[in-house]
Amino acid sequence: MRPELSRRDLVRLLGASASALWLPGSDLAWAKPAPLPPAPAAPDEGFWSAVREQFVMPPDLAVLNAANLCPSSAPVLEALYQATREMDREPSPAYREEMHEAKEITRKALAEFLRVTPEEIVITRNTSESNNLVSSGLDLKADDEVLLFSDNHPSNDVAWKEKARRHGYRVKVVDAVNPHPGAEYYLEAFTKALTARTKVLAFTHLSSTVGDLFPARDLCRLARERGILTLVDGAQSFGLMDVDLREMDPDFYGGSGHKWPCGPKEAGVLFINRKSASRIWPSIYSAYPGAIGISKTFETFGQRDEPAIRALGEALRFQTRIGRPAIENRGRELAQAIMAGLRKIPEVKLWTHPDPVRSLAVVSFQPGDLDPQKLMLALYEKDRIVCAIRPGADRGGLRFSPHFYNSQAEVERAVGAVKRYLATGL
Ligand SMILES: Cc1ncc(COP(=O)(O)O)c(C=O)c1O
Repeated sequence: MRPELSRRDLVRLLGASASALWLPGSDLAWAKPAPLPPAPAAPDEGFWSAVREQFVMPPDLAVLNAANLCPSSAPVLEALYQATREMDREPSPAYREEMHEAKEITRKALAEFLRVTPEEIVITRNTSESNNLVSSGLDLKADDEVLLFSDNHPSNDVAWKEKARRHGYRVKVVDAVNPHPGAEYYLEAFTKALTARTKVLAFTHLSSTVGDLFPARDLCRLARERGILTLVDGAQSFGLMDVDLREMDPDFYGGSGHKWPCGPKEAGVLFINRKSASRIWPSIYSAYPGAIGISKTFETFGQRDEPAIRALGEALRFQTRIGRPAIENRGRELAQAIMAGLRKIPEVKLWTHPDPVRSLAVVSFQPGDLDPQKLMLALYEKDRIVCAIRPGADRGGLRFSPHFYNSQAEVERAVGAVKRYLATGL
């Protein structure tokens, strides 16, 4: 028999490892937060602090790493936990059937979130899978060209280049310019790089490298006017920006639930525009298709983690309750505070353009001559601040990516810590 745990043990265990989720006699291993108050028209720090209380992160931990991985809120954890528990308590065909219905409810939630139809939604594992389903599913031949942006993630860069070696098509790349030279510059650069052979334009909505924001709608229009297909990598915009895919009108758009939407791991999305559905082949043929539209043929992915898919729907509802524009504004507001603070530190070189039309909530900078890896570790171990690094000489340094669970006090603490280490050394 497991011994009873004291409250102190419980707190220590929960801080220490996810395996502590299994606890005797407890229904849930995290304290149930008070219900989230209705979102005010103009949310203030008080409201955002109530939002933070919906997350199980300890209050002293400032997690500024949304571009990589976001925590799930307690309601999402609860949905995931309960659906998993039910599935394992009664792994019956009837319960599986219920979970298939839950998948369709999430598909509907994804469609509403992205402002498209459920018939155009494929539930994938993540953006990597979504991007690769596109690059593997299009009929590209020798002499065709695919145009990329140089800061694309490997799943939208290496993937095309490797497949080009196999199929013989060509890949061209528009290079990133730093600092972000503005939407007009990129529209012109992409226009110039398109040729009569270009079949696909694949770019990133908001880059993970230095947080450059791209004129997605204009680029998609540019391509559509020339009969060119577009793949928009939305890993850094899905769940952060109030994305409207009908307005953007890409052919394909992918995102990950575990980033900005604060959903569970391994549940993501691929939007396939109804206008383009006949242009793409499925890459996986198996059982358990989705129930409607493109998912009937494209989403036969075999057995899935349906509880995670169900919890992704809960994550989207959680964000919708708070308000999509409010979440986007909050990310921008915190990033602007970070950039304003960093710009006052003479040694810091900011790679992200502070113009709110050119960036959003991903901020990258070179912290003087401090070693980014060591600085990241010091921030985590001594200051309880989580961030990411970009290694190497090309716009290397640290990346802070704040989200709606962060506070102004946390971003001030992060900027203050960078300043202190620059003054004292590591
Ligand atoms: C722009 C971009 N695309 C794709 C990905 C891949 O996301 P995932 O690992 O969730 O598939 C990332 C991950 O950071 C990203 O930043």
